[in-house]
Amino acid sequence: MKKIFVLLVAVSFLAVAGFAFAAPKAPAETLMLKAEKMKKPPVPFKHVTHAKIECSKCHHTWKGEGTPKGCGTCHKDKKEGKKLSFKNAAHKNCRGCHRTMKKAGEKTGPSKCSACHKK
Ligand code: HEC
Ligand code: HEC
Ligand code: HEC
Ligand code: HEC
Repeated sequence: MKKIFVLLVAVSFLAVAGFAFAAPKAPAETLMLKAEKMKKPPVPFKHVTHAKIECSKCHHTWKGEGTPKGCGTCHKDKKEGKKLSFKNAAHKNCRGCHRTMKKAGEKTGPSKCSACHKK
């Protein structure tokens, strides 16, 4: 009986550890977001302050396997087909959410140019 219990604990530990190992983590450091050509200062982005938001809200093409690709791999300086430019994709995603939440009276991130494009 005791042996079976120990075995069960070991198996479930391995399952949890295996899952934790397979699940990708968001980078802890501040990422500097840059378009190919820059007129404004690059935008610092912290995953930690966005930890409650589902990954797929931003990494919208990511299916949960491997590492999500940077927005800039698909969203270039100019719109390509249905893909928005990096500027418009970022503004729609980042500023769009901040504005919607602000209107709803919730604590959120900045909507002012200079608060994201920090000198
Ligand atoms: C609020 C938006 C947002 C959320 C939510 C978010 N991310 Fe990100 N993530 C970004 C942005 C923006 C980048 C930088 C992309 C770039 O450099 O073009 C990034 C970059 C990354 C990178 C680095 C990619 C590379 O090319 O080096 C990884 C890994 C990552 N995110 C994982 C995650 C995971 C896992 C989650 C959910 C737990 C998550 N992210 C949630 C916006 C977000
Ligand atoms: C693998 C390519 C790819 C990556 C990586 C990618 N996108 Fe997109 N994105 C697309 C395509 C294709 C479309 C147009 C079709 C669609 O809406 O899905 C799009 C559309 C969008 C839209 C417009 C959606 C709408 O409702 O009109 C936003 C906003 C956006 N992307 C933001 C981002 C952000 C922010 C990132 C990085 C965190 C990102 N994308 C990463 C390919 C990508
Ligand atoms: C789905 C909603 C949502 C999206 C998308 C989103 N944010 Fe935010 N952002 C928030 C919320 C909520 C906070 C406030 C978190 C807190 O302080 O508790 C925040 C805070 C911030 C802050 C101030 C705090 C800090 O981390 O420095 C910055 C800057 C910021 N966001 C930048 C961005 C950028 C850049 C993007 C796009 C790549 C983005 N956000 C996308 C919801 C969002
Ligand atoms: C919520 C954050 C946020 C706010 C607010 C914001 N931006 Fe951006 N902007 C970004 C991100 C992220 C990018 C794409 C990465 C980059 O270029 O730094 C971007 C890209 C750009 C670009 C293209 C790249 C460049 O430097 O030429 C311009 C121009 C720009 N923004 C201007 C503005 C102006 C003007 C405002 C105010 C009306 C503004 N942004 C407000 C986050 C923001």
